[in-house]
Amino acid sequence: MASKTVVITGATSGLGRATALQVAEKGTFLVFIARNINKASELLKEVENKGGRGQFVIADLSRMKDTVEAAERISKMVDRLDVLINNAGNHFPNYKITSEGFESTLALNYLSPFVLTHHLIERMEQTASQVGESRIINISSIMHKAPINWDDLNCKNNRYKSTFAYYQSKHMLTSFTYLLSNKLKDTGITVNCIHPGFVKTTIAKSDYPFPMNVIVPIVGLFIGEKPEQAADTPVWLALSKEAKSIDGEYVHHRKIKKSWPPTRNEEAQRRLSEVTRNMLEKWL
Ligand SMILES: NC(=O)c1ccc[n+]([C@@H]2O[C@H](COP(=O)([O-])OP(=O)(O)OC[C@H]3O[C@@H](n4cnc5c(N)ncnc54)[C@H](OP(=O)(O)O)[C@@H]3O)[C@@H](O)[C@H]2O)c1
Repeated sequence: MASKTVVITGATSGLGRATALQVAEKGTFLVFIARNINKASELLKEVENKGGRGQFVIADLSRMKDTVEAAERISKMVDRLDVLINNAGNHFPNYKITSEGFESTLALNYLSPFVLTHHLIERMEQTASQVGESRIINISSIMHKAPINWDDLNCKNNRYKSTFAYYQSKHMLTSFTYLLSNKLKDTGITVNCIHPGFVKTTIAKSDYPFPMNVIVPIVGLFIGEKPEQAADTPVWLALSKEAKSIDGEYVHHRKIKKSWPPTRNEEAQRRLSEVTRNMLEKWL
């Protein structure tokens, strides 16, 4: 039987890198999207040295144009797509608008996964109809517990608070997970998100404002995991038989948990989807 194809974003560092190496070791064909060609080449070499197979696409995922082009290249590159892991993400200490006019946290952590998924869904539906299933996994965070500021999603009018922008983006990604899971019921595609816990990566060392600059290092001292350990849940959710029936859930350490109630509000999910579609009209 042909091997599974796994697409992952943000695979050149941290959690994504560890996850990519582990899924490649399990005999899948790994396709990763990266922004840095040297890091991407180095990762592909490591995959191949370990007997794995893969390919990469270069894209700046904070740009929707790049995201669409990456999806188009992947659709041409592979004839099946079993797993999509939307992992790339960042915390931006300072307010930064992309060349397409979006606040960077919103663009990278939420809008890009939305666009990428939208453009890869056809290939996933084909795969699910041929082999019985395909899986979408969004890397969320416990840091999703802030309300959506509907009047100012791009944080243009209010004083920029980087942790709020991060929380809001993960709230949106979590809500999107539930909405998409419901929409894709009966297609064979499952959609879940993961709260990976505290993972000792670059993002965990980001320049957070008070009080997060105090909380994050303290939490890290006690409960931080290495990326290789934290990759266990995404790899399990992506490939295990046991996880096949898990759908529309928020998962932490292989256990189904409850995300913050506002993320599970179906009316708010529909509103978010509509607002997002309007913002992204050009790229969908
Ligand atoms: N670490 C934690 O404690 C923690 C907790 C909860 C959730 N998360 C989430 O886990 C995911 C992985 O984060 P991490 O902790 O592994 O952080 P990380 O080590 O900083 O990795 C982030 C990845 O995203 C890529 N990336 C960033 N901006 C990009 C862009 N514009 N275009 C394309 N790729 C881009 C990075 O590429 P480069 O390699 O080129 O930098 C890197 O591969 C994120 O979604 C994060 O929000 C992390």
